Amino acid sequence: MRKKDYGLRVNKLFHIKTFGCQMNEHDSLKISALIKPLGFEETADPLQADLVLFNTCTVRQKAHDKAFSEIGKVIAAEGKRPLIGVCGCMAQEEGVKLLHRFPEINLVFGPDQIYKLPELLEIVEKEKRPAIATELINSAEDYHFLDTLEATRLNGPTAYVTIMKGCNSHCSYCIVPKVRGTEVCRPARDIIRETEFLVEKGCKEVTLLGQTVNSYCNDGVSFAELIALISKNTGVARIRFTSPHPKDVKDDLIEEYGQNPKLCPHIHMPLQSGSDAVLKRMRRAYNTTTYSAKIEKLRAARPDIAISTDMIVGFPGESDAEFQQSLDFIKGIGLDAMYAFKYSPRPDTEAFGMADDVAREKKEERLQRLLDLQNNLSKSKNETRIGLVEEVLVEGADKKKRGRFCGRSSHNRIVNFAGQEGLIGAIVKVKITKAYSNSLEGELWKN
Ligand code: 5AD
Ligand code: SF4
Repeated sequence: MRKKDYGLRVNKLFHIKTFGCQMNEHDSLKISALIKPLGFEETADPLQADLVLFNTCTVRQKAHDKAFSEIGKVIAAEGKRPLIGVCGCMAQEEGVKLLHRFPEINLVFGPDQIYKLPELLEIVEKEKRPAIATELINSAEDYHFLDTLEATRLNGPTAYVTIMKGCNSHCSYCIVPKVRGTEVCRPARDIIRETEFLVEKGCKEVTLLGQTVNSYCNDGVSFAELIALISKNTGVARIRFTSPHPKDVKDDLIEEYGQNPKLCPHIHMPLQSGSDAVLKRMRRAYNTTTYSAKIEKLRAARPDIAISTDMIVGFPGESDAEFQQSLDFIKGIGLDAMYAFKYSPRPDTEAFGMADDVAREKKEERLQRLLDLQNNLSKSKNETRIGLVEEVLVEGADKKKRGRFCGRSSHNRIVNFAGQEGLIGAIVKVKITKAYSNSLEGELWKN
């Protein structure tokens, strides 16, 4: 039940619930930073909040439905009702329709309109009416990247830095271009300034963010050049990025992997399917031959590079033979980690017009077979690290087991080990003693 008596508290409380990807996680940080100066303090408890924000995702129907159900729960809770705001990709997609479904909602704003939040809150409070802002901004002049210099709350030694927004690809299953608009890239000098600011605050590792992060190009600076510039002009120890499109993994980026020790030896290369026919229907702009060629080049440039991927099972028309091609391809190429999803039809996408003809049970079975295969591959890959000394950026302490710490190797593997306070934020050497499919275990090594 909601607390009725707010006592002598001066500041109002807000709660933000985030769904979806790293872009949304980062947007939530920006949102928090925008509203704190307005007299809001963050609370982990939605029932205590004066303002509850839902930063939503709509990449699959499940994420969409989850947001609806969470909004419904807050509306149905007893006690004084908070202001309710819905933002992110589902808000962008639904727009004013959200107010028809939930008249209790006060605010609806899309990812490109975050900067307007203070203005929108003022409308809600002064004019006592819902405020909506869902315009997509597709020009560099008008886009607000929100200089997160002051806004970024550094939570541990790692941070995200947005370098571009939107997507110009036309993958037939994907709703992202509709809800995040077309690509807009941020000037390199702003990215460098923000990275250096984070470094001064103790950040050791940045993850460059964008929907198709490696299609970055601003004022003649390519993605590979941007990585080189960040490495040269800031004191950051490690650089990662997510998510790239395989078609834009160009030779200059591959060369950068070969020559830049700050660029972590890991790349996420979403494959989606191992069948050329399915890739064509998905409009992925590559096939298994060109994908393999890129992997080979990456491995030649940086032999230890770890490669992870995304896969979709049950895309319209995916036959048993086509799914078998995915299994065979994944087995052959031996990647390090995988996220796999059941195809979910999304409105206004090209594939929405195709029959969703792979039965739910079949999708589930295929998903399980693919994940089982990858689990074995990941475990074997991880076992090759046993006995090696990894450089681990210590991200935190194990909440349940005292004296146990957790970090990531440069290859993006989770490493657990015994240590002492004071290591968080440091890059330490850990000798690997055990391997599982999703993590490694080790011992601190002569640091
Ligand atoms: N159905 C299932 N999975 C999807 N993805 C994107 N759109 C869909 C969809 N309609 C997956 C892709 C992408 C990841 C972020 O989500 O694998 O890489
Ligand atoms: Fe979800 Fe895609 Fe939006 Fe991220 S960009 S929140 S994955 S719909």
